[in-house]
Amino acid sequence: MKHDPASLIAGLHLTFDPGPSVKTRRTLGAAINAFNARTAPLDLERFALLLRDDAGKLAAGLSGALSWSWLFVDALWVSDQLRGRGIGRALMAGAEDYARTKHCHSAWLDTFQARGFYEQLGYERFGVLDDYPPGQSRHFLRKRLRPAQGSLPG
Ligand SMILES: CC(C)(COP(=O)(O)OP(=O)(O)OC[C@H]1O[C@@H](n2cnc3c(N)ncnc32)[C@H](O)[C@@H]1OP(=O)(O)O)[C@@H](O)C(=O)NCCC(=O)NCCS
Repeated sequence: MKHDPASLIAGLHLTFDPGPSVKTRRTLGAAINAFNARTAPLDLERFALLLRDDAGKLAAGLSGALSWSWLFVDALWVSDQLRGRGIGRALMAGAEDYARTKHCHSAWLDTFQARGFYEQLGYERFGVLDDYPPGQSRHFLRKRLRPAQGSLPG
């Protein structure tokens, strides 16, 4: 293989894995976290808000992570038949409230389908990747959950 790092140092062997397992990705992630911890100790709490029907089937949900005083919303989904009834907004408000109780000052997320939804909730764009997916843009959005220290009430 061109650019084989194993050719640089004897005793190393490069393999190509077309479908890395969860275990492989976790091992790699743990190694990166251990490195990062030398300068910024790992600070990560995952959580989810799950809305289920009487049969226990998932009707809507949000999963998020709290890290270094930031909330990251990594997934938000409301089932087709329940959309447009305020559930998405309520899940976001619930996640933001929870993050505030954990002393988070801000939230961020990325989206290519629902930019307007998040902007209605006070999120502002701070970055964009065009053509990701093709023909669409991936927007990176952020929102303050409490006033910046030292800022005056407006
Ligand atoms: C986006 C989603 C989570 C919104 O949930 P919802 O329960 O339908 O939204 P709500 O009823 O709380 O809507 C709140 C407001 O946002 C608006 N809105 C909802 N979806 C929107 C979207 N995709 N784009 C722009 N505005 C949207 C609503 O019209 C409503 O506005 P209003 O208060 O003026 O009437 C839901 O449509 C969904 O699961 N979509 C598919 C998955 C998805 O796109 N997830 C987000 C990926 S980052």
